[in-house]
Amino acid sequence: MTPNAARIEGLFRAMSLHEKLGQLTMMRADFGNAGAELGAAKLAQIRAGGAGSILDLRGLESIQESQRAAVEGSRLGIPLLFTLDVLHGYETIFPIPLGEAAAFDAPLWQQTASAAAAEAAAEGIALTFAPMLDVARDPRWGRIAESPGEDPFVGARFAEAKVHGFQQGDLSQGATLAATAKHFAGYGAVTAGRDYASADISARTLEEVHLPPFAAAVRAGVAAIMPAFMDIAGEPATAHREMLDGVLRRRWGFEGVIVSDFCAVRELIVHGVAADAAEAAALALNAGVDIDMESGVYLEGLPEALSRGLVSGEQIDAAVRRVLMLKVRLGLFDKPFERGSRPLSNSQRQQHRELAREAARKSIVLLQNRNLLPLRGEGGHLAIAGPLSDAAGDMLGPWHAAGHAKDAVSFLDGLKEALPGWRITDGASLDAAREADAILLCIGESASMCGEATSRARPGVPDEQRRLAEDVLSLGKPIVVLTSGRPLIDPWLFEKADAVLATWFLGSEAGAALADILTGAVNPSGKLPVTWPYDAGQIPIFYAQRPTGRPAKPDDHDTSKYLDVPVGPQFSFGHGLSFSRFAYGSPQVSSKTVRRGERLFIEAEISNEGDVAGEETAFLFIRDPVASIVRPVLELRGFAKIGLDPGMTGTVRFELSADDLSFPGAEGESRLEAGEVQIFVGPSANRDLLKSCTVFVVKDST
Ligand code: BGC
Repeated sequence: MTPNAARIEGLFRAMSLHEKLGQLTMMRADFGNAGAELGAAKLAQIRAGGAGSILDLRGLESIQESQRAAVEGSRLGIPLLFTLDVLHGYETIFPIPLGEAAAFDAPLWQQTASAAAAEAAAEGIALTFAPMLDVARDPRWGRIAESPGEDPFVGARFAEAKVHGFQQGDLSQGATLAATAKHFAGYGAVTAGRDYASADISARTLEEVHLPPFAAAVRAGVAAIMPAFMDIAGEPATAHREMLDGVLRRRWGFEGVIVSDFCAVRELIVHGVAADAAEAAALALNAGVDIDMESGVYLEGLPEALSRGLVSGEQIDAAVRRVLMLKVRLGLFDKPFERGSRPLSNSQRQQHRELAREAARKSIVLLQNRNLLPLRGEGGHLAIAGPLSDAAGDMLGPWHAAGHAKDAVSFLDGLKEALPGWRITDGASLDAAREADAILLCIGESASMCGEATSRARPGVPDEQRRLAEDVLSLGKPIVVLTSGRPLIDPWLFEKADAVLATWFLGSEAGAALADILTGAVNPSGKLPVTWPYDAGQIPIFYAQRPTGRPAKPDDHDTSKYLDVPVGPQFSFGHGLSFSRFAYGSPQVSSKTVRRGERLFIEAEISNEGDVAGEETAFLFIRDPVASIVRPVLELRGFAKIGLDPGMTGTVRFELSADDLSFPGAEGESRLEAGEVQIFVGPSANRDLLKSCTVFVVKDST
């Protein structure tokens, strides 16, 4: 037995049932005038061994005081686990995940997670409820903002980068956070984009689309998993034995902790699968949920469930062991006050701000530019209009942990700093705007319109802003800066505006990063991690659709299209302009044939035909045109970046294994079928812009 296991077993022999259930109970901080705190009743519960982890408590002093209550004041002295949603930064706020995904930059994704972990751990936090890995193809769903977008391959790379960034290999060294991959699985597919609604997903779509990012997180060693709120075809994810015990634990060998979502165990009663607390607790525990977040149902219902024979003592013990093991891995037993003992230096904080600016620049997507950008000239009059022009607080977006509006740079402030030679007027009247040399129109969503419980049936620019926008657009010259947590469906805007940038919620350095792009100091390189619909009626719209027997033909009535709107999106997945122009050569593949176990190398030349240096993200898609199961029209299997000076040509390289050309069989096994596979390389999922080559999968003779 390892020393750690021996330590846990020793504790185990001393634990009462109440103390065991306490370890399975996560309690939320109270919210008073002074912010989050633990009141006397909750501190007493901790001393009595009735709580093992705390949610939402912030501030080093309060955290350490409660830790003392557990370590010095409870019978067994088991340390508490402090948890928080640190999604895209702690004090220094990085772009929201959907924005950061647009950077298509795994090293960046990892660095921002490490920086967030260092800041949060310095305040005593030990576990974050991130990364959020729900594949999101429905912009009506507000939580798309928290996700890396529509593609499972991108989600898987995002998962690995974030897990490594938060956890940094060794959880016990004090600047790390245990990561939680959430929300397992299929939450992005809630009916009609309505948060918490049922998701009815086929086994194939679950396997191919929703599971890969979670599988990648498990392979990367993620410490915890959170089941989603909703039901999957009638089985609430919190009580889903096949998913939690079957897929996660048995198939993938996940040995970490499964923590419920907020009150989700008690909500099993409201879902209509449990009659009372004992049944709800038993369903969740038997499915594999170790920690009950906030609902208190494990404490309340498990003793009764035990006496009714609904659960076994061994099951409770197994869950407690996993929780204690996580605390051991985090170093909490040896050094319960380690997190928080080493404050960040000023130079570290400064580095985080610089990283926030870099991440924000890389997240901006130039959607449209009819020769308006970058801003030209040494000076002039820039009029800024729209409710998001000087909205520092909104720049932080949803789930901004300990981020403060006062520390964020608004668009207005960023531009004033970057354009000293310009006269900049904010909130200008239409007449003043008419006189200006350039107009910046800052519209979109406020931070409170995105994230959890913010579904919108019509995700677009709010009506009152549309009126302002149409007036300003009639002047002919505005640069539109769209702030949002999702694609905003406004075809009128793209018809009228010459320049539009998607800036998501860029975080602490929003204004500085926007100024870097508008002035041309930095060439935009962000690309869409999600298809941008033309009309809400097209939702769900995503590039990896399955082909139909009647592909859309504009002049053929009986084909798969709409009578009233185009079938294509406003902008494809991967779309994003640069101030340079990139031309792609045809991809070359290292071998015309491939067998199981072999690898392929694909290269494509890219030339910068513009006048300025720029960075391009190239995508590699595959298509299996004849298979035993209908395969999507395109599937992403790689993305690669290249920086090119004007006039230069360079090569992007991709590596594929034969397995990357396979698809899941009925049991989730990889099925590699003989025959042709097409390989496409290009700037986005827009088929017209892709160049292709072909390989042949050769069947094993065995
Ligand atoms: C959300 C989770 C989050 C939890 C704790 C829930 O409402 O669905 O994503 O981690 O709250 O704050």
